[in-house]
Amino acid sequence: MTVHAPGLDVRASSPARPLAGKVALVTGGARGIGAAISRRLAADGATIAAGYRRDRERALELAAELEAGGSVCSVHQGHVGSAYDCERVIAEALDRHGRLDILVNNAGITVDKPVLRMGSDDWNEVLSVNLSGTFYLSKPALEHMIDRGSGRIVNISSIIGQIGNIGQANYAAAKSGLFGLTMTIAREAAHALGKAGRLDDGGPGLTVNAVAPGFIATEMLAAVPERVLDRIKQQIPFKRLGRPEDVARVVAFLCDDASSYVTGQVWAVNGGMEM
Ligand SMILES: NC(=O)c1ccc[n+]([C@@H]2O[C@H](COP(=O)([O-])OP(=O)(O)OC[C@H]3O[C@@H](n4cnc5c(N)ncnc54)[C@H](OP(=O)(O)O)[C@@H]3O)[C@@H](O)[C@H]2O)c1
Repeated sequence: MTVHAPGLDVRASSPARPLAGKVALVTGGARGIGAAISRRLAADGATIAAGYRRDRERALELAAELEAGGSVCSVHQGHVGSAYDCERVIAEALDRHGRLDILVNNAGITVDKPVLRMGSDDWNEVLSVNLSGTFYLSKPALEHMIDRGSGRIVNISSIIGQIGNIGQANYAAAKSGLFGLTMTIAREAAHALGKAGRLDDGGPGLTVNAVAPGFIATEMLAAVPERVLDRIKQQIPFKRLGRPEDVARVVAFLCDDASSYVTGQVWAVNGGMEM
């Protein structure tokens, strides 16, 4: 049993655990890039609420892994394309942990087809998960964060939103859309804090940023044929795919209280593929 000195806040942050005492909801947080983000934020001291849609087993495995490492982790089922589910998941996380400091909108899908063969269902499905989901989740999270006067929202976009890609009109449109959504929520968050007289209270502030990964080795790329991946690698100055951890470290940086003067930006993690 660990005995702590009276009055010592064991959840207080320290350079080794800068996110101690914070609660982070990571959508799609049990797989691929999302799992790396959950692990990284947990290692930095945050309590994790990991969202998932279909893969409950993977979510429970991640929770068990994090708990075994001494972190707190809850799992929350929900379809981010449903406004109802998003509001419920935010309410669940708040109910369970009492606060929400960090929202990472990471859940995403692809349904790739050339425009001439892309049906309206293919278009709507990708837009609803990759773009509307971020709006549905950010709205109740933002309300809570504005009330508390601080918070972090990090939206996982993509290099495809910056440069486009054959067969990915729906995905590129959704990921580009995240840039405008990110900048707008960043401005509205700052405006709301200003109205409440909390812009320069020395706190962590309320920031909203996007991260735009390049090609990262996860199951999302499993459908891409090896020869296509080889061609892609040749376009990357580092000649390799990125790792989920490469993205997670930028997310962790943005979530740090000390990153309070960084908002409305797009952070590329792409091995130099777009510059
Ligand atoms: N991999 C890349 O090269 C790359 C590059 C740039 C950007 N990104 C972006 O990074 C994010 C993560 O990608 P990844 O490669 O880690 O993908 P992934 O391995 O396919 O994982 C996707 C995650 O999203 C969740 N998810 C999918 N649809 C959902 C929905 N409707 N509601 C709730 N959760 C849902 C999945 O949950 P379940 O397992 O429970 O279904 C899973 O955890 C995505 O936004 C993606 O667009 C990826």
